[in-house]
Amino acid sequence: MNLKGRDFLKLLDYTPEEIEYLLELAADLKDKKKKGIPVDHHRGKNIALIFEKTSTRTRCSFEVAAHDLGMGATYLDPSGSQIGKKESIADTARVLSSMFDGIEYRGYGQEIVEELAKYSKVPVWNGLTNEFHPTQMLADMLTIKEEFGHLKGIKLAYMGDARYNTGNSLMIACAKMGMHFNGCAPKKYWPVQELIDTAKKIAEQTGGSITLTEDAMEGTKDADVVCTDVWVSMGEPDEIWAERIADLKDYQVNSAIMKNASDKAIFMHCLPAFHDLKTKIGAEVGKKFGITEMEVTDEVFESSQSRVFEEAENRMHTIKAIIDATV
Ligand code: CP
Ligand code: NVA
Repeated sequence: MNLKGRDFLKLLDYTPEEIEYLLELAADLKDKKKKGIPVDHHRGKNIALIFEKTSTRTRCSFEVAAHDLGMGATYLDPSGSQIGKKESIADTARVLSSMFDGIEYRGYGQEIVEELAKYSKVPVWNGLTNEFHPTQMLADMLTIKEEFGHLKGIKLAYMGDARYNTGNSLMIACAKMGMHFNGCAPKKYWPVQELIDTAKKIAEQTGGSITLTEDAMEGTKDADVVCTDVWVSMGEPDEIWAERIADLKDYQVNSAIMKNASDKAIFMHCLPAFHDLKTKIGAEVGKKFGITEMEVTDEVFESSQSRVFEEAENRMHTIKAIIDATV
């Protein structure tokens, strides 16, 4: 498998075999890291990390992975560069790809990262756009594989805002890997029809399936994996909270939902999560709307079924695999 020079912009651009290869590489790199075996054959190379939205996991994963691989990493924060203000994406791509061996980009519309890749001579990796979060998907798939030993046939229920980066991406990831995706959300939070149709077509080839339902109990019945994400994503206006809470409160992952899922079901969340009031936004929203938890209850988040921190760790190993494979 040779992925040298390839961009990683969305899972739709990758075959199931290529995704499987990246997961195997990530597992191997994880094993070597745990055993203290260095993998630093990218010494002398450098990568640029552009973040137009904030991050903990994705930024740290790219920085630690680059360091482990022997590379340098330069972080460009949401306000500290010329990008988008004084310099176009096309010009930025040509400048950065003359200095760096790979470019990570986190920002708004998917078309921006696609434009960056079009003008870049080096691989571009999507660290999250409004539409897709592909590096998160590799971590999620690795976490599920570690738990169940395989991906094919796994039933994954996604609760909540299914029309944004995480919901869209999980639907595509499931389709690609022969899994059964059940999106549980009010109709207005379903992925756009064109993407559902694309996912269904892929699932026909891989033995997976794609279902969308407004019935949370039906959608999570016997699920192996129950996933969710925040109800209001980065870049969305604060005014939307009232509507989101009203629309999505019945799609909270709580103990009734986990009991409805398979006995061996695990809970996953890309994080950060609003499972208590111990964050600034969580406390403000909680006070304003008289709630203590949002997309997931603290009980489920802290339960033995929760794999959220394993999932977070896997961000680093899988991002390392993407860098190693494509640079
Ligand atoms: N899951 C995820 O992308 O987290 P960050 O926003 O912290 O990078
Ligand atoms: N949907 C979330 C994902 C965060 C990793 C957001 O875009 O804010």
